[in-house]
Amino acid sequence: MNNDNTFPMKEKNIIYFDNAATTFKPNRVIKKILDYYENYSANSHRGDYDISFKVDDMIDYTRDNVKKFINAKRKEEIIFTKNTTDSLNMIVFGFFLKYLKSGDEVILSSSEHASNILPWLVLSTKKNIKIVFVDSIHEKLNINDLVNKITDKTKVISLAHITNVSGDKRDIKKICELAHSKNILVVVDGAQSVPHIKVDVQKLDIDFLAFSAHKMCGPTGVGILYGKYELLNEMIPFEYGGGMNLNYDENSLKLLDIPYRFEAGTLDIASIIGFGESIDFLNEIGFQNIEKKEKELKKYLISKLEEIPYIKIYNKNCEGSTIIINIDGILSGDLGLYLNSKKICVRSGKHCAKMGDNKEDTVRISLYFYNTYEEIDYLVNVLKNKEEIEKFSK
Ligand SMILES: Cc1ncc(COP(=O)(O)O)c(C=O)c1O
Repeated sequence: MNNDNTFPMKEKNIIYFDNAATTFKPNRVIKKILDYYENYSANSHRGDYDISFKVDDMIDYTRDNVKKFINAKRKEEIIFTKNTTDSLNMIVFGFFLKYLKSGDEVILSSSEHASNILPWLVLSTKKNIKIVFVDSIHEKLNINDLVNKITDKTKVISLAHITNVSGDKRDIKKICELAHSKNILVVVDGAQSVPHIKVDVQKLDIDFLAFSAHKMCGPTGVGILYGKYELLNEMIPFEYGGGMNLNYDENSLKLLDIPYRFEAGTLDIASIIGFGESIDFLNEIGFQNIEKKEKELKKYLISKLEEIPYIKIYNKNCEGSTIIINIDGILSGDLGLYLNSKKICVRSGKHCAKMGDNKEDTVRISLYFYNTYEEIDYLVNVLKNKEEIEKFSK
């Protein structure tokens, strides 16, 4: 049952280049979810019967799978959330709201996704915290500026590992070394890195990591919050309810140990089980192969786009699997809709990251390993028809 690696969405007569938003799911993941609903649809932690035990086992399997996948030290360091946004909010309001003191400083980059900016901005209004933005040069993090902006008040640096617009890959190992030498914690938004490259939290020495299952062939509704055990132990839940307490009365509340303390209420069981399968799937393909294929596809895409003189490519020197482009005189939204009329899915606009050094709206082509050279050829041929694009946009 579990070896059907084909993607039903690949048979829909569309060309999908919006993988940074979400990815397709292989049949084996979809079947795994169906299997839960059809054969052991029960809640976790609550039953004294076999199908509920099986649910617990399957959730545990995924937790263990995630632990191995990112090489966490302990299974307890893996918390199921809804998505990257949820994980980052838990980190900011569950940990840093208590940890940071008035006058402390938080360093972010100007090209972060809104999910790694807005919670911090809100936090800064709750406490007297200063948010400091590091600049980008030509879509890449300016590491000298980062070093210069660290002061003795800096307590946390929170950065995307790979950014979702330009695909800037940050040297997280070096940033963690630098930060830890000054007692600064590092939060990594792994939404665009964990699906594409091997992320080893111990090797990189990351303090907190957030990512989403749906961007890595898994279902929507599940995210991961990784944190070092001793840090998570200090984190405060911001949701209270069933499944997270040992006992309580009118005067006292005793919470379960981590990770359960942070998983109040019924989890998205089906999606967690599906996520376990998507990790198996990615492991079978292997990150060496995933990275190699995406690099080759991207190189090919750039070389083909360079043949079209009126296409502006913004981020040739970035390492991620996204390419952002524009055509002079055409609104990016119009170009996106034109491509849609040719059954090509891309994204246009600011991509939830409006503070980078590029202030223009762009069209983002984001690749995943299952894209093909033929799909790129089709896209490039469509883009070659400038006259038709201009007509469409009028
Ligand atoms: C870098 C980055 N961070 C955070 C997010 C938010 O992810 P989610 O919508 O799954 O919470 C995204 C989504 O595109 C992203 O690309």
